[in-house]
Amino acid sequence: MKSEAPIGVFDSGVGGLSIWNEIHHLLPNESTIYLADSLNAPYGDKGKQTIIELSIKNTELLLSKGCKLIVVACNTATTNAIGHLRENYDVPFIGIEPATKPAAISTNTKKIGILATKGTLASELFINTSSAFRGNVEIIETIGEGLVPIIESGNLNEANNLLKKYIMPMVEAGVDNIVLGCSHYPFLIDQIKAMVPDGVTIIDSGAAVARQTKNMLELSSLLSNEKDSTIEFFTNAKIEVLNMFLQKIGVDRYQSSYLKF
Ligand code: DGL
Repeated sequence: MKSEAPIGVFDSGVGGLSIWNEIHHLLPNESTIYLADSLNAPYGDKGKQTIIELSIKNTELLLSKGCKLIVVACNTATTNAIGHLRENYDVPFIGIEPATKPAAISTNTKKIGILATKGTLASELFINTSSAFRGNVEIIETIGEGLVPIIESGNLNEANNLLKKYIMPMVEAGVDNIVLGCSHYPFLIDQIKAMVPDGVTIIDSGAAVARQTKNMLELSSLLSNEKDSTIEFFTNAKIEVLNMFLQKIGVDRYQSSYLKF
């Protein structure tokens, strides 16, 4: 595999752009191809087998475009499908999981909240990794039912009522760290920060995923020095929504297209 080959990134929609953004800032010389599988969003309400099948479809498309490494920029797909992907494909995979560990380490109240999809919270991987912290820390899990479709519609302000319903009970229960366990939710971070008291920290995993991607490329001798890296985004749903989010994160030069997949 050549180091100039692109990094592939996929998510159930536009949410993983929050992760793509961190990767692009850390690794500006890397070419990237992003797939927004918005047609099939939300993944969070689907069963494990369906999530695996959708992840296979996205992976095979990225591999057909010559990707050297794949970032599963979706907690739901990572926690349900990354084991299967790693067993069946010969490229490195980087996944994203709720940042339970940093939250559990830094909490003073010994109570943390995790806002994630049903599919993530019910997954074996999440249950196993979070069990290591449960003795010392109380973890309040909340399913962010309905948030992903609102984000996918592009009308972020419509999420305020649901956010209050999900976030305020955690605050009232005394959490001092809230983990955003879904890559869509960082697009709601300003709204969430505006509703929580000062002492509550909101944690997401985007920067950690970018660092892990860099480490993996270094380890595999696949880091690119390309000056003319290319950036491509594909959606199988509304291109206007994808473009709106690209403007929101301030990408300067890119190609975005509709693609049936
Ligand atoms: N963005 C995804 C995640 O990180 C999935 C959201 C969904 O499609 O339900 O979990």
